[in-house]
Amino acid sequence: MSLLSLASATPSAVAAPAPEPLIRLEDVAKRFLLPGGAHFDAVKPTSLEVQRGDVFGLVGKSGAGKSTLLRLINLLERPDQGRVWVAGRELTALSKPALRDARQQIGMIFQQFNLLQNASVFDNVAFPLRLHKLQGGKAAGIARRVHECLALVDLADKQHSFPAQLSGGQKQRVAIARALASQPAVLLCDEPTSALDAETTESLLATLRDINTQLGVTIVIVTHELAVIDTLCRHVAVIEDGQIAERFAVGDSRTPAVTRLGRELQQLRAREAALARLAWPEAALA
Ligand SMILES: Nc1ncnc2c1ncn2[C@@H]1O[C@H](COP(=O)(O)OP(=O)(O)O)[C@@H](O)[C@H]1O
Ligand SMILES: [Mg+2]
Repeated sequence: MSLLSLASATPSAVAAPAPEPLIRLEDVAKRFLLPGGAHFDAVKPTSLEVQRGDVFGLVGKSGAGKSTLLRLINLLERPDQGRVWVAGRELTALSKPALRDARQQIGMIFQQFNLLQNASVFDNVAFPLRLHKLQGGKAAGIARRVHECLALVDLADKQHSFPAQLSGGQKQRVAIARALASQPAVLLCDEPTSALDAETTESLLATLRDINTQLGVTIVIVTHELAVIDTLCRHVAVIEDGQIAERFAVGDSRTPAVTRLGRELQQLRAREAALARLAWPEAALA
């Protein structure tokens, strides 16, 4: 076929291609074997796409399978079936060394922070850079990157402290700095605020929002707290019994949610909108 006939036969070929999702889970499932030969289907066959730049929430009750689904994204859990793509690479098809390399695109933080207790804040953040010989493996480059990351999370003055000397919020900020050190495209967050008080939660969510809007890092966050979804997320999937029961845009009030958590989230939004309307005349008079 000549180029000309190819072009006229496929006019859509000249249109801009649809953006590739940054994360794509295709029909993934995870079964845990239990002692005694029984098994438990923590994630039943599930597909999910997350667009580049999004803040995507996974919400659900304890035991619903949220953490397992999140850990399938960076293959901390390897799916029993299905395929996983992140940033254009199929992680499920990579060799071990190639997967180690690809994982630098994916940072992760946890409820319990998971810091190295015997290492300073500086060494915690430097750890992945040294491990993967980033910044040319050079001490000066690593130090520069560590300082950049600590500045991002407002902890420039804590580089010589040890985790035990920090508050919960500060520990989570160190974990964020460490997760961002390799300049990932994605930050996976597993209940990052569940061990924190309300005020600390608020400031941590503001930091995560800045990381998304200013650095362009795509965020996937697992939580059981609707307020976290409401404050931070643009899209949400409700996880029930190892599956996605529904997914919707957080600002979308026209499509009624079908799950109880989905409806609660919409009610929370509606109450906030009503409060904002009430507050508005006072603000106008002030
Ligand atoms: N390594 C494991 N071995 C056996 N069962 C597990 C394992 N990890 C998780 N599960 C089970 O899978 C289910 C989903 O767990 P998880 O994904 O951690 O849920 P969530 O994060 O929503 O609370 C739970 O019932 C949990 O007990
Ligand atoms: Mg969990």
